[in-house]
Amino acid sequence: MIKKEIEQLLNIAGKKIGVEDADFKVSFSSLPEVCDFQCNGCFALAKRVGKNPVALAEELVANIEKTEDYEFFVMKAFINIKLTDKKLSKLGVAYLKDERGGLVKHNKSQFIILDYGGANVAKALHVGHLRPAIIGESLKRLYKLMGDKVISDVHLGDWGLQMGLTELQLYEDGKLDGYFGKGKNKTLTLDDLNEAYPKASARKGQEEDFRLKAEDWTLKIQRKESPYYEIYQVIRELSVKEIAANYSKLGAQFDLWYGESTADDYCGEAIEILDKRRLLKSSEGAKVVEVASESDNAPMPPCLIQKSNGASLYATTDIATILMRNKMYKNVDRIEYVTDGRQQLHFKQVFRVCKMSGISPEGQQLVHIVNGTMNGKDGKPFKTRSGDTIKLEDIISMLSTKAGEKLKANGVEGGEDMALKIGVGAMKFGDLINNVSKDYIFDLDKFLAFEGKTGPYIQYTVVRINSILNKIDIPAGNINITTEEERNIMRAIIKLNSAYEVCYQEKSLNGLCSAVYDLASAFSGFYNNYNVVNEKDAQKKAGWVALLHLVKKKLMQALNVLAIEVPDKM
Ligand code: ARG
Repeated sequence: MIKKEIEQLLNIAGKKIGVEDADFKVSFSSLPEVCDFQCNGCFALAKRVGKNPVALAEELVANIEKTEDYEFFVMKAFINIKLTDKKLSKLGVAYLKDERGGLVKHNKSQFIILDYGGANVAKALHVGHLRPAIIGESLKRLYKLMGDKVISDVHLGDWGLQMGLTELQLYEDGKLDGYFGKGKNKTLTLDDLNEAYPKASARKGQEEDFRLKAEDWTLKIQRKESPYYEIYQVIRELSVKEIAANYSKLGAQFDLWYGESTADDYCGEAIEILDKRRLLKSSEGAKVVEVASESDNAPMPPCLIQKSNGASLYATTDIATILMRNKMYKNVDRIEYVTDGRQQLHFKQVFRVCKMSGISPEGQQLVHIVNGTMNGKDGKPFKTRSGDTIKLEDIISMLSTKAGEKLKANGVEGGEDMALKIGVGAMKFGDLINNVSKDYIFDLDKFLAFEGKTGPYIQYTVVRINSILNKIDIPAGNINITTEEERNIMRAIIKLNSAYEVCYQEKSLNGLCSAVYDLASAFSGFYNNYNVVNEKDAQKKAGWVALLHLVKKKLMQALNVLAIEVPDKM
């Protein structure tokens, strides 16, 4: 909005001096202490019209319509633009009134299905599921805020070999006797599951017989044979409860709790489509689709659709899921997946099969958002001390324990809920401040610091604003910007508003994290120099109250996108 206004002023001036088609563009200033925006257009334009660039810039500025909103001045051939206090005040008043705090939606709303869960039934959620949950949830909230319609799907891994492995292990441990006519006991517990899968998974690599048998059991489950399928349903239900509890602690909310098993109903139809399009090839008894293309610079193996025993595979369920989604919903613009890099080949293959077969209609974008890895301090993927994959549950409890200790050390009485909000908030911010695709190091002490670019710092800023506002009983007045500290707050808000679109384009939240930090730190600069509660000038005080409300509103809007909650005290 602001940029457009400035560009328009420049273009009108351009017409006045005879450069009709200049189409000036402005950007945020690279020298924020000098000005707020800059325009570099005179360099290229001067060449084109055969003028001296500085003279051109000066002529242009001299011809800009008088305005109380902006100051224009020339430095070399750059046109520098400063927002006047009047303009900043007007923006403050308008943003406070506006429900969205001046954040504009984009004009073309998209319909998006976002797939960012991926937890596996019967297996504990692990650290690999953490980043997709954090990133996916925030992307969903960002898309919605920008005006898109988004449906989130947890897409559980609930149809693979782990099902057969778990059941077989449980069977061998005598836990399924009741289902096989040996006694009445049919009670399975979560502990049984959590014990069975790791055992079975270790055996799979060492005992060929065991693996083959587990494959057979998996097929029986997939064919819905009794009692295999009945046991599967019990396992799924138990497991999903635990998965849901963990996601909820992370603030990840899914509209759909579908899984690979849901897509099973569409596998037959998907295979038929591939067959009709003559895309299915037989290969050693199995069915595959050749997806390699001439432009590939790395080998692209065929996509395995059906095993020789008729079992479907991971790719089959993902292809069937795309078919299902397009049958359930009309005009889906994008389907996006958040996972780590290990699934890159998988999604490339799946997307190609869906495009070649028309299962994904033309114009629909299939996007794999690849997240980098969370590493330990040794720079290797984060593991337990003994080298095992770490469970998500353990990370969450580590976060809240540490946050609880910190609160205690600061003399704040708070329950578990408060510690969880701070611990999880710290984790999320520590994650999202990195570009989605980059690896980063899990450093709890750094994440949990109350100063610096951290979640707790932003949370603490809101807590501080709340505490000031609670001490004041006069209503908000009009925002009136007169000091450098106030200007810095308004500038940070303007930049924050523009960060959303950048994040949207980049599908990464790091820009929002930085911008919200800059606002918190601009507020801090104000807070350190002015005492709102004790201010004697009633009009000034009322103006500050309004400004505080605006800062809080903008911080909360960003925290809501980052899915970070704010505790009552810190
Ligand atoms: N369940 C998979 C895993 O744990 C992730 C699923 C990702 N989503 C998908 N539609 N394939 O690795």
